[in-house]
Amino acid sequence: MPDATDFETVIHGRRWLAFHGGFFSDAEVARPLVDEICRRADEARPDVLADLGGGTGYLLLQVKARRAGLDVINLDACPIQLAEAARRGVRTVQRSVMDFRRAELVSGDRRLMLAMRSVLHYLGESALFPALRHIRHESRPGEAFVHQTASFETPREAECFNALYRLMGTHKWYPTVEHMRRCSQEAGWRVKEVIPAASLRLTAHDMALRYRLDAPLLCRIREEIGREYADARDVFHPTREAFIAHLKYEIYVCEAA
Ligand SMILES: C[S@@+](CC[C@H](N)C(=O)[O-])C[C@H]1O[C@@H](n2cnc3c(N)ncnc32)[C@H](O)[C@@H]1O
Repeated sequence: MPDATDFETVIHGRRWLAFHGGFFSDAEVARPLVDEICRRADEARPDVLADLGGGTGYLLLQVKARRAGLDVINLDACPIQLAEAARRGVRTVQRSVMDFRRAELVSGDRRLMLAMRSVLHYLGESALFPALRHIRHESRPGEAFVHQTASFETPREAECFNALYRLMGTHKWYPTVEHMRRCSQEAGWRVKEVIPAASLRLTAHDMALRYRLDAPLLCRIREEIGREYADARDVFHPTREAFIAHLKYEIYVCEAA
């Protein structure tokens, strides 16, 4: 299985901000998460805010527009994303969320706060808990971790998305909200709030580009997922030519226990 980060370089960098209808560069879409990050930052007064898997730095720039004095850093595994973030004036570090060290983000006794948007599903099912535990390990008690993560209310919706992504040949994996809560708590996070966020509308056209899918595979997806998950039309519906899927997000407001 290719590493997801390498695989998607076709849509990384400058192209990322316009992709998926501009979802990841839409201030209205980002607002509930930015609101929560600012609210928590006002309470916790961190010395540094780090965005894990921060891509091109969009989220941090939105936060900076409202909290100019906050020191921010963007961690991502993909150099193409980081080059774009640096071009926009954001300080960057090239690391994986699986093995970064606190000292790479903040020095000594300074306080850290973590943010993240749309990253945990990249890691696959088996790495979700180790990632949450690692991030907790690099945090200190009372520090905040506010993240917007793809997750579904019902097991059936999550199953539908996982079947779709398997057919597309990726190892991305989507939990239920309940699973995220449980995993987070077991990894040492207090989940203080879970807040709904805007869904991402995924067209077959964008998925074909992103995952390099050909027309016969798109047809197969439309038929198989459409048939098997006829009861999950809220997240997957076949269209005349192909399909539309809706990726659901929640904002998890967590604190290191
Ligand atoms: C869907 S994009 C979201 C980017 C950004 N958070 C945003 O909301 O615009 C996912 C990002 O996670 C990064 N990523 C994927 N796996 C990662 C890992 N193991 N460690 C760090 N970054 C990772 C990708 O390079 C990509 O920039």
